[in-house]
Amino acid sequence: MNRMPVIVVGIFLTFLSSWIGLVAYPYLNLGRFTPVTDPDSGEVFPPPMSGLAVAGQRVYAASGCVYCHSQQVRQVGYGSDLERGWGSRPTVARDFMRENPVFLGTMRTGPDLANIGARQPSAMWQHQHLYQPSVVSPGSIMPSYRYLYRLQKIEGQRSANAIDLLPPDAAPDGYEVVPTHEAEALVAYLLSLNRNYPLPEAPESSQ
Ligand code: HEC
Repeated sequence: MNRMPVIVVGIFLTFLSSWIGLVAYPYLNLGRFTPVTDPDSGEVFPPPMSGLAVAGQRVYAASGCVYCHSQQVRQVGYGSDLERGWGSRPTVARDFMRENPVFLGTMRTGPDLANIGARQPSAMWQHQHLYQPSVVSPGSIMPSYRYLYRLQKIEGQRSANAIDLLPPDAAPDGYEVVPTHEAEALVAYLLSLNRNYPLPEAPESSQ
């Protein structure tokens, strides 16, 4: 008996079912999010990202931050993220609609960064931390991202964007540490990470 048609149809159905499960169903569920406008304030959530923050996302990807940091706040019952102060509500799929790629992450060698812009809104703190994490976080095991900064001679006045550092991390006399464009972009991205806004499917008090 010729079983060829049965085998061909079987193979087709196997691929069809995985395409429905892995492509079509997730696309229908998650692929058509639109931002939500707050009727009172007119604000749009999630807010659009600035061009500098989008550039910073590339630096985040290239620097391997995702190997040690997640960006997802889990629900109560799945972890103690909310008790740790990592967000005012669990993150939901719509939070990531403007991100490409999405850095959900799988490792938490360091804290979750889904809302780091709300937790550490100071650009100077972020620069000091990236330049040498132990400057602001004594005993930190996070690697230094010193190569994103430049040591330059002070010409006349100290630059407005020079990083404040104390010995032993301070620049030698007559020199200053200034961020490169990559460092400025990365910090703009980190400061944009603030998902403490309400969404219909995730009001701020939801847990
Ligand atoms: C080898 C693992 C590792 C890598 C890679 C790493 N980090 Fe970290 N990070 C940590 C650890 C551990 C901490 C906690 C100690 C500290 O605050 O420095 C931390 C803390 C932080 C904090 C402060 C979080 C808070 O809640 O105070 C920020 C911001 C941060 N990292 C950003 C980054 C960025 C941006 C990159 C990529 C350029 C990066 N990290 C790469 C391990 C890492």
